[in-house]
Amino acid sequence: MSAEAVDLKKRRFLTATTAAVGAVGAGFAVVPFIANWSPSERAKAAGAPEEADVSGLEPGALLRVKWRGKVCWVVHRTEENLADLATLDGKLADPDSAVPQQPEYCKNASRAIKPEYLVAVGICTHLGCSPTYRPEVAPADLGPDWKGGFFCPCHGSRFDLAGRVYKGVPAPTNLVIPPHTYLSDDLILIGVDSEGGAA
Ligand code: FES
Repeated sequence: MSAEAVDLKKRRFLTATTAAVGAVGAGFAVVPFIANWSPSERAKAAGAPEEADVSGLEPGALLRVKWRGKVCWVVHRTEENLADLATLDGKLADPDSAVPQQPEYCKNASRAIKPEYLVAVGICTHLGCSPTYRPEVAPADLGPDWKGGFFCPCHGSRFDLAGRVYKGVPAPTNLVIPPHTYLSDDLILIGVDSEGGAA
């Protein structure tokens, strides 16, 4: 083999080796990032159902659960909260949930499967801000008629503790109730219809 041929062979070998090392390096850079995502995290990002454990949720407290990238609320309503809901109808834009903002099995007075637990998507139906949970009765800034609910700081929309929108505010509809079901007394699965099947 001539000196020139040997040199060419050596150069080809070096080029191939460098390319291989580069590919392995790129592989190392990508693999740890993907490996950080467990199968359940990947499934959640794709919209898998999400569990909400309400066993430790005190009456009056709110739990936040992320489902399909949205914050969902679970509120443990008190007996008093439930009694107050019935007194608000005249102040609400859609007290009977005529607009389908909820699954059929939540089209009832409390907009829930179990009256004590409200499950709602925490996104204002006006322009998508996140309303604030205001469970107090008659706080100074919300007035003497306020029985607890959600207040949107962006443009002032108000919702009661069933996520029903008040009259005369920018939000056009009640808050969305996501599909959900109970796996046990204390475990709610958000993202699966209670009447069977994935949402
Ligand atoms: S986004 Fe809530 S009132 Fe406008």
